[in-house]
Formats: sequence, C-alpha cells, structure tokens
Amino acid sequence: TWKPVFPNAADSDYADPVQRDKAFQALETVRQQLGQTYLPLINGKREQTETIVDSVNPSNPSEIVGKIGLISIDQAEQALEAAKAAFPAWKRTPVRQRAGVLRKAADLMEQRRYELCAWIVYETGKALHQCDAEVSEAIDFCRYYASEMERLDQGYNYDTAGETDRYHYQPRGISVVISPWNFPIAIPTGMTVASLVTGNCTLLKPAEVSSVIAAKIAEILVDAGVPEGVFQYIPCKGSTVGSHLVKHPDVHMITFTGSQEVGSRIYAEAAVLQPGQKHLKRVIAEMGGKNAIIVDESADLDQAVAGVVYSAFGYSGQKCSACSRVIVLEPVYEAFVSRLTEAVRSLNVGDAAHPSTFVGPVIDANAQKRILEYIEIGKQEADLAIQVPAPETGYFVPPTVFVNVSPTGKIAQEEIFGPVLAVIKAPNFEEAIHIANGTNFALTGGLYSRTPSHIATAKADFEVGNLYINRSITGAIVSRQPFGGFKLSGVGSKAGGPDYLLQFLEPRTITENI
Ligand code: SER
Repeated sequence: TWKPVFPNAADSDYADPVQRDKAFQALETVRQQLGQTYLPLINGKREQTETIVDSVNPSNPSEIVGKIGLISIDQAEQALEAAKAAFPAWKRTPVRQRAGVLRKAADLMEQRRYELCAWIVYETGKALHQCDAEVSEAIDFCRYYASEMERLDQGYNYDTAGETDRYHYQPRGISVVISPWNFPIAIPTGMTVASLVTGNCTLLKPAEVSSVIAAKIAEILVDAGVPEGVFQYIPCKGSTVGSHLVKHPDVHMITFTGSQEVGSRIYAEAAVLQPGQKHLKRVIAEMGGKNAIIVDESADLDQAVAGVVYSAFGYSGQKCSACSRVIVLEPVYEAFVSRLTEAVRSLNVGDAAHPSTFVGPVIDANAQKRILEYIEIGKQEADLAIQVPAPETGYFVPPTVFVNVSPTGKIAQEEIFGPVLAVIKAPNFEEAIHIANGTNFALTGGLYSRTPSHIATAKADFEVGNLYINRSITGAIVSRQPFGGFKLSGVGSKAGGPDYLLQFLEPRTITENI
C-alpha cells in the first residue's frame, strides 16, 4: 500500500531552556504591541473603515489585543471587483509559482513561530503548548497543499491510438473563506492556502474575535508574494456583509468552518441561484461534533483517564474534535469515574499566558454565559461529579464533569463547546456503540480497549470521520490524520488529506484527434 511521506513541522520542545525562553520572551514582546489597529487589505491596500471593533484578551478582557476595521458592503463589492480583475493572471500563474508562495509562507511562519504563539495566547486564550502545535499545523497545511497541487497539476493521460485524451484541473474562480476562532491560525491558513494554490482569488473573512491573528496571516501571505487582489483580508460582520458575500452571484465557492447553525445557513443561502449567476456554488462546511470516547472493561484506565481529560479539557473543550461524552462500560464505571474525578481536580485553570495553565478561559462573554447555562441544565439532568474552581476575572468556566448522564439528555446531545464532560454508563459494548452513534454528528470518536473484537466492531460501526483507538481524539496531524466528519458535522472532504484540493478545482477533459 502507498504511504505518503510528508515531513510534518516539528513542535517546539519546551524542555529545552533556549526554546522555552524564546517563547516567554515572545509573550513579553507581543504584550508591548497589544492595542494596535488592523485594517482590511483590499486590492493590496489597507483601507480605512467606518466601523472599528475591539478584540480583547479572554483571560483579561480589559486588555485590548487589537482594534479591527470591519468592511462595509461597498468595500465588499470593491474586494470582489479586485478579485475578479486579478483572477485571469492568477489562473495562468504556473502551479510551481503558486506553490512557491505557500512554501515561502510556511518558512515565514516557522521564523515567526514564537511570536504567532503569543498572539494566539493573548487573542484566543489558548494555552501556550497548544498554540505551538497549531502553528506547526498551519505550516504543514502550506507545505502539504503546495505538494498536493503539484501532484494534481500532472493531470491524467488517457490517450488512445490517434487521439489524445487529457484530464486536468482548473480553478473555480472567486472564493470566500469564513474561518473560526478556535484554531485561529491553522484553520484559516489551511482553508486560504488550499484556495490560493488551486488558483482561486480568495477573500478571508475571519471570526471577529480572532481577527488580529488573521491579520498576521495576511501579513505573511503578502510577504510571501501573493499578488494584489488574489488574496484579500476582509474582516466584517457575518450576518450582514458575510451573508452578502455568500449570496453574491460573482462568488464561486465558500469554505466555512464553524457552528452547525451557521454552516447550514450558508449552505442554504449559497444554493439560491441569484440573477446574473451562471454557476452553482460549491460549499465546504466543517461543523460541530458531540464526540464520544468509549472505555470498555479491558481498557488501560490510566491511559483512558489521561486521554479523556486531554481531549475534553484541552483549550477548554473548544475544539470541534473535543470529547464531550465518555461512555463507560458498567464493570469499570465506578473505578473510571473516581480516577477521572481526581484527574480533573488536579487541572490548572487560569490565564493562558501562564506556563502552568492547562485550562484557560473560553472565548467571550456569550460563550461563557451559554456554557454556564448548560451546566445548570446538567445539574437538573444528571449528577455533578466535580467542578474545578476558576478565576473570577476573565471569561472562565469551571471545568465540570457530570456522571450518570442519560444518553438522550440535552448535555449528551447538544454541542456545548466548553469544558463540560458528560459520563454515560453502558451495560455492554454493543449498547456503547449505539449510544456513541446516537447524535446528529459524526466527527471524532475514540475507544480505549484491548479487546480485538471490540476494536474491530468500532472500526466497522462507530460512525465518525476520525476514529482514534487507545489515544486522545484531538490534534489531527496534516497528511497523517486527514480531518473532517459527516452527518451534521459537515460536508467536504478532509482537511489535510488527498481529496481536499479537488473541491477547489473544476476538472476538464480535452480530447484531440490527431
Ligand atoms: N483538526 C483539529 C483537531 O483534530 C480540530 O479542528 O483537533
């Protein structure tokens, strides 16, 4: 079997004092730069905007990380005109050159690794070690999609006697990327560079609360040589300007990662044929999850507890891949719950910039309120096993574990996107798989087991896009674990995988008799 050889970028080693000092120093240097203004990039120029919003530090919301200029509908129209004007030349630009821009961007990210990590810590409240892995992922996306496009650019040759039959790919056109805040560098970089390397002119609309980091991506892409109008950075209000772009007849594709509610709306809006529109739009929507880990009676419980805690509480549970349900077989239920509770008790909750923090804040006040409401629902529906105290200042939510949760309860069905874990008891393995599959989502899932028949059943029947056996369920690595789900978790082939770029391309067949 063919195995791709892709050299993933190495994460920093914080056990090495030199690397650790560089990371701490970057936190200091970046702190001195907080509060600057970031304007949109339209046709290669920084444009003034009528609206400016603050992006704040979730660990300490009185600290303004940056002021973000939001574009108007008129400015969105200007950006589309610029993209249309730039398209013919970008489409004709040799793939080698487009891939070169991505490789240069990857090198620049590697050079700015510690600084980028610091921006992520301050703007999104992610603990330092998790930021570093994310920068590696962003670098991997650039290098992987560069190579992937070079592979696809070879096309296919189906010639027969007297006739050439050639199959090749061309870009779709104008592409809008709508990115989330929870992987503020990896996901927008991945979606944007996939769109660019395939020859599409790309407009990046980042989540408002992570627009400073997106501005850093924009700086890097410009420094890497992406031409004016080919890439544009356009922070804007999603409900008005974002929606205008999604519905626009000149837009060919929309690549979205975020909530199921917004993704479904984009899918519907993009499907409506507008006056003057001569194509149907392609939508990629990577959405939510209600991911489960099953722990059976043969599991190594030490390993299972560590994997569940990491998957459930890393970045305060705000990963679409996070574990929010753990389904434990009856014989090991009590033992697992008591070990899990003690492990969660030892979690360090605090400012993301502090080196010992494992659980930082959640992203903003709305998220905090929504998650706290779910915790109240959990108290009605199930038994509270533990709640770890969290700081008062900042958007913190106490890491919380509920036990004896009903598989059909709200906290077992709805995506909470916070540090809340529901523990469900299952009478046997068959039932555990049934419970695991009993939500609207199919993104990630995990199994801790040493029973070959259980592992085989999970491989066949556990309905998830990414199944992890005897390990944590977050942190997919580009090209090694292509990432993405199905059911209401999304439409679109897996990010960091061999089919991803195909979605940004239009295949053509050219036959010539000779
Ligand atoms: N790719 C991320 C992970 O695997 C989620 O977006 O955790």
